[in-house]
Amino acid sequence: MRFRILGQTCLKVSILGFGGLSIGYRKVNEKDAVAVLNRALDLGVNFIHTSCERSYGDSAHKIGKVMKERRDECFLAVKIGASQRTKEQAEELLTKTLKVLNTDHVEIAHFRAPLRTFPKAMRPGGPYEAFEEARREGVIDYIGVTGHNVDFLVEAVKTKAFSNLITPFNYVANSAKEKLLPLAADLNVGVIAMKALGKGGLRNSSQALRYVWNHDVDTAIVGMSKLSEVEENVAAANNLRPLAQNEREELRKMAEKIVKAGRLSSFGSVKR
Ligand SMILES: NC(=O)c1ccc[n+]([C@@H]2O[C@H](COP(=O)([O-])OP(=O)(O)OC[C@H]3O[C@@H](n4cnc5c(N)ncnc54)[C@H](OP(=O)(O)O)[C@@H]3O)[C@@H](O)[C@H]2O)c1
Repeated sequence: MRFRILGQTCLKVSILGFGGLSIGYRKVNEKDAVAVLNRALDLGVNFIHTSCERSYGDSAHKIGKVMKERRDECFLAVKIGASQRTKEQAEELLTKTLKVLNTDHVEIAHFRAPLRTFPKAMRPGGPYEAFEEARREGVIDYIGVTGHNVDFLVEAVKTKAFSNLITPFNYVANSAKEKLLPLAADLNVGVIAMKALGKGGLRNSSQALRYVWNHDVDTAIVGMSKLSEVEENVAAANNLRPLAQNEREELRKMAEKIVKAGRLSSFGSVKR
């Protein structure tokens, strides 16, 4: 496995991270989900992202089963704030998340707020205050920011309130490379890519991941619900090399086709 330092944090993260969304779906049973995550840890993946928000189903519960035995082998990042509008609501979700994950501390909590309500969410009494308090108390080490809107992430990073961020980034939805990635590099803010495989809509997974890792990105949190996916993606990380001119051209043509066919959502997902 290859590792990179996540921006101004002290975390040396595997370039392939474990995106918890996929195992939260009902079609993946607990036994299989546990086996998939164990395999990822065995192969060197040390960064796991999840949430107790509704859209993640029972992802955190399944990850918590593995954390009972292997918490010291990985860094945990959790998302809070999609529907938490107050400090108390954010505290409540953080407490619940830790409990479900069978831990008393996570390395990163990712702050999520829509652009419209962002200034309010940052004020005293808003969810950001819960993050600051949790950091002071040693419940979290670092505060990150997450969102699907790249313009929002640019504004959030400019506040200097976040040491790392999660952005959608793949060879089709790649607007982050214009302003966000250079700004993050300038300010040494760690970059975590999500939707690197367009939510499963980009089938040439190894090239798609190499595209992401060959930009100023520290790690890609990839949703994996099968052992074969873990193994293929780890192999891509281990064999990381720059894309050749013909591969870049191939990806550019595929991206053009996907956009033209209207298969790209504004979230960086690609309809299959
Ligand atoms: N913070 C936020 O606001 C936010 C929002 C959304 C997501 N996220 C995080 O970002 C992570 C990544 O996003 P995502 O899971 O939606 O999208 P993604 O990583 O682009 O795609 C995941 C899907 O790709 C497929 N896949 C994985 N490896 C593959 C391989 N080697 N070959 C073929 N297909 C492969 C799997 O599909 P199948 O399951 O069909 O096999 C998997 O469900 C999430 O898991 C979540 O942790 C964060």
